[in-house]
Amino acid sequence: CIILFLGLALWGCSGQQSALEPSGEEAASVAQLFWAMLGGGAVIWLGLMALLATAIRGKLGPIDNRAATQLVFWGGAVLPSAALVGLLGYALWLMPGLRPFANSGAPQVIIEVTGRQFWWDVIYRLPGGVQFRTANEIVLPVGQRVEFSLKSTDVIHSFWIPSLAGKVDMIPGRTNRLSLVATKEGRFRGPCAEYCGTSHALMAVEVTSLPVQEFALWTERRKQPSPGVFAPGSELFEKHGCGSCHRVEGTSAASRFGPDLSHLGSRNTLGAGILPNTPETISSFIVRPDAIKPGTHMPAFDMLPPDDIRSIAVWLKGLE
Ligand code: CUA
Repeated sequence: CIILFLGLALWGCSGQQSALEPSGEEAASVAQLFWAMLGGGAVIWLGLMALLATAIRGKLGPIDNRAATQLVFWGGAVLPSAALVGLLGYALWLMPGLRPFANSGAPQVIIEVTGRQFWWDVIYRLPGGVQFRTANEIVLPVGQRVEFSLKSTDVIHSFWIPSLAGKVDMIPGRTNRLSLVATKEGRFRGPCAEYCGTSHALMAVEVTSLPVQEFALWTERRKQPSPGVFAPGSELFEKHGCGSCHRVEGTSAASRFGPDLSHLGSRNTLGAGILPNTPETISSFIVRPDAIKPGTHMPAFDMLPPDDIRSIAVWLKGLE
């Protein structure tokens, strides 16, 4: 029964959001530490249970004062101290910054992520001063060190991609750093890991790691407007004032208040990892955003003609 329960519990730890199925150097260290602590804890627990069973069966017999003192000294002070110091040393040894042989090269890519209620503002800073902005989805090169510069403009959020690295808080007024290397290609999910308001549970970031050449192609496309901006629909986006909160590269919409929608059509999900990205879900988000994401700052646009909403949604989905 215990084994079944443990099996079920660990099974729940697999998939695209798993600290125990690492796809990055830093996550591998975290998983290694978890297994070492679990193993150490299991040995101590089994030893204790064996002692307890012996005592219950009356096999220990009465012991004198001197033996009792010895037992408390060795079993109650020396053994736990040695175990804790050993685990502390092991944990310090696993910390990337303290390990000279870790892949500690200078970061090739710097990604500034700002937590907002309830989405992620993402700015890429590439070598040569190249910079572009996106939202809610992050693409990384496999095998290259990436540095995240983590901020918040409203409340405390927390950035955590369990398959790639440990958790770092995003605190208003300060910048925290997280450095990581993805070691495998894949698609991962990161939940906001600090309660930040009504829709905290509806705030996730999608991360995709790609081979270096594909990553270069992806960034190349992000530097220019999407070819889709010239399709019909942009005039409605402009007419209904969407540009007063959003930005779309290649159009007059340039506000940085809400998520950047340039290349929105190429993202896997909508609304910070909560919906599939289709013209239908985009339409329903425009009509009643707070029905999908309670507490969002985006107002409802249910007064607009349904045909206009549909055209805007199709146009946005076409921004690949
Ligand atoms: Cu953002 Cu919780």
